[in-house]
Amino acid sequence: MQRVFITGSDGMLGSDIVRELRKKKEYQLVCSTIADMDITDLRAVMNALARSRPDVLIHTAGYTGVDLAQREQELCFAINAEGTKNLAFFCRELDIQMIYISTDYVFDGKKKKPYVETDPPHPINTYGTSKLKGEEHVQTLLTNYKIIRTSWLIGLHGLHGKNFVETILSTASRKSRLSVVNDQIGKPTFTFHLAQQIELMLSVNASGIFHITNDGICSWYEFSRRIIDLSQLRNVTIKPITSKEFRSLAKRPANSTLENARLQELKIPLLPHWEEGLKEYLRRRKLKAASSVSEGS
Ligand SMILES: NC(=O)c1ccc[n+]([C@@H]2O[C@H](COP(=O)([O-])OP(=O)(O)OC[C@H]3O[C@@H](n4cnc5c(N)ncnc54)[C@H](OP(=O)(O)O)[C@@H]3O)[C@@H](O)[C@H]2O)c1
Repeated sequence: MQRVFITGSDGMLGSDIVRELRKKKEYQLVCSTIADMDITDLRAVMNALARSRPDVLIHTAGYTGVDLAQREQELCFAINAEGTKNLAFFCRELDIQMIYISTDYVFDGKKKKPYVETDPPHPINTYGTSKLKGEEHVQTLLTNYKIIRTSWLIGLHGLHGKNFVETILSTASRKSRLSVVNDQIGKPTFTFHLAQQIELMLSVNASGIFHITNDGICSWYEFSRRIIDLSQLRNVTIKPITSKEFRSLAKRPANSTLENARLQELKIPLLPHWEEGLKEYLRRRKLKAASSVSEGS
């Protein structure tokens, strides 16, 4: 029996990890939300980890507002950098393996090919810089760790219910003409797929950085096209625009595609294409909507 502690267990990724691990008998889970343990509070972290003594800590909690982070730098660093340091410190003291979820936004996007794990990071916004700082704390304090960098997460659960697919569908329900950025490319990744891979990583005996994403590359525009087509919204048109035209608070890398190079080296099966993830997401979304209607009736 492996004791697994999950931070951010009510977040988009965290809640799917909890779902995935609950399917198996070999895990004893400790689910932790900000109400149970604020990771910026060193004493709370010490108490929670000393009490539950997990074998592994999966750290998904974080400040994830990429644009807002430009205005709330201090809070973003307190959570993503210092909070991660607090956890890594007690993982070292208590001999706990740490799995830290990080991001494609540690890169500047200037590379012309997908980024491999050994490429030097160079973030261009506050969120990416704070997540990289978190990575550095993990690497400095621990030897038994996995840093999992992922990208463009889409999940059905979690407190806020916000993600790119939902943004596109809700905008399309109000407007027939959308404008979506076409000069940023990445790899959309579905949290139910990533959660399965994280479960698999619990039995992988290797440390270091791992890039884990769904397969396939697209721009936000191409992604939104597929969302609209698969949802059969025939009256909606989408105009491709540039990042300059979109004007957001945070700069984003033009290329944030992650090559899953270490998984390939270790012959670990890769995640399916993002289009497969999108189809599955839309299928599950329909089921969820149908079940909430029948619960309400
Ligand atoms: N979303 C993406 O596209 C993406 C891409 C690459 C990597 N990642 C990384 O993947 C991880 C999971 O992302 P997600 O999208 O699932 O995030 P999410 O839904 O925003 O969940 C993050 C969780 O962390 C909690 N949290 C915030 N501050 C905390 C604190 N001080 N102490 C304890 N918990 C705190 C949040 O609680 P509240 O909601 O109550 O604040 C929330 O439950 C994050 O580390 C993120 O950086 C995300």
